[in-house]
Amino acid sequence: MSMSEPKIAVIGTGYVGAITSTCFAWLGGVEVWGLDTDPGRAGQLAMGQVPFYEPGLPEFLAETIATGRLTFTVSPHEALTDADVVFLCVGTPSGADGNPDLSQVESAARTLAPFLRDGTVVVNKSTVPVGSGNWVRTLLEDSLPRADRPAFQVVSNPEFLREGTAIDDFLFPDRVVLGGDESGLRRVAELYRPILEQAFEGGRPERLPELITTGLTSAEMTKYAANAFLAMKISFANEIAGLCELVGADAREVLPAIGADRRVGRPFLSPGLGWGGSCFGKDVSALVATGLEYGYTSGLLSATVEVNLAQRAAVIRRLQRELRVLKGRRIAVLGLAFKPGTDDLRDAPALDIIRRLLAAGAGVAAYDPVVKTLPPDLSAVRLAADVAEAADQADAVLLATEWPEFQDVDPSAVAAAMKGDLVLDGRNVLDPHAWASAGLRVVGVGW
Ligand code: UDX
Repeated sequence: MSMSEPKIAVIGTGYVGAITSTCFAWLGGVEVWGLDTDPGRAGQLAMGQVPFYEPGLPEFLAETIATGRLTFTVSPHEALTDADVVFLCVGTPSGADGNPDLSQVESAARTLAPFLRDGTVVVNKSTVPVGSGNWVRTLLEDSLPRADRPAFQVVSNPEFLREGTAIDDFLFPDRVVLGGDESGLRRVAELYRPILEQAFEGGRPERLPELITTGLTSAEMTKYAANAFLAMKISFANEIAGLCELVGADAREVLPAIGADRRVGRPFLSPGLGWGGSCFGKDVSALVATGLEYGYTSGLLSATVEVNLAQRAAVIRRLQRELRVLKGRRIAVLGLAFKPGTDDLRDAPALDIIRRLLAAGAGVAAYDPVVKTLPPDLSAVRLAADVAEAADQADAVLLATEWPEFQDVDPSAVAAAMKGDLVLDGRNVLDPHAWASAGLRVVGVGW
């Protein structure tokens, strides 16, 4: 390896870290070291195994490791010595009080401090509360003797990766946001050059991503505000869908008609069971909490969360309206993951709804193409091997996650398996006519 290639270190090889290290190494021109405290995880990645479900990543990882530009290790010395740019990609789970738990960021910074040199750029990709860039800088400074403290830079580089499409999101982003001081920004922008110019095999030069440079705090705020906006857009769609049901309008007609206005845009206007996952709920709550620290009450953001939770309760009411009694009913739930293309169950609407169904005395069978285990408190759920098995003797079928394969299910096979005839399409993805032809009664969200 030539000595002139920049050395990148990525601290934390969870979801964001694994994608970041693999993509930068794949793009070439750099040497990338992924550092993790968990020897199992580092060892697995080093062998090209991905410890979570992300389509395409195993092949992409193996291909990149074979280039010799990507190494995973538990040794800070190996990963961090002479690193030019260090990405912090550690987790920031929600603490007991709802605020993000920053202990992993703190320990990553302490590990890193002794290896800093003049010109090292520390890039924060972990989602930290607004203002944390300064905190990381102070933490690093305080870990070093004042006398010969190196001149390092801190840059915030929020990630906008979606589970299931993370590699594409990394290589073909709409924008790259970098916050910090001029010289640090320039160094990081240089790393992103292949992406910004789409100068790689399979790049799409006809659609160049925008480079947006901001102050440190603005970049941190951008991450939260972006997720809050998307969450709000979904909650807006759900609120309008609820009103459509009341007045007899059809949200499937109304919402695309709103989205056709370029100022609005079509994506993220699908009503249903609401959002789940590790980001939206956590980030919107964190932004609300940040506001409160300044005595600011964010009505819009609080309502965004409330509407999302109300969708889950609304499904139960809908089932009660249709089935009258839930006690002793058999409900088949199709889809468990918070969205298709992932096995992630964090804040999954399906699980919340299943808990409510069990509490109401219903029996639940569930099928998900990828999720094959459930949390211990859901041991009463019968996990089926396919849709028909889940629907066996069911009074109602609830589609909770819009896995594409559910659209190909033969409605007559489901009808034959069921005892009742109610199908609640919680994501509006089934063809109501085809399902009605099989003798089933389909209801959805917003119509
Ligand atoms: C999200 C952001 O999109 C990403 O930019 C950020 O970095 C992390 O959070 P992710 O959590 O992977 O990514 O999920 P996303 O694909 O955005 O979907 C979020 C949820 O919203 C899913 O539960 C999905 O079912 C739901 N959703 C999405 C809707 O209910 N309606 C919609 O119209 C769109």
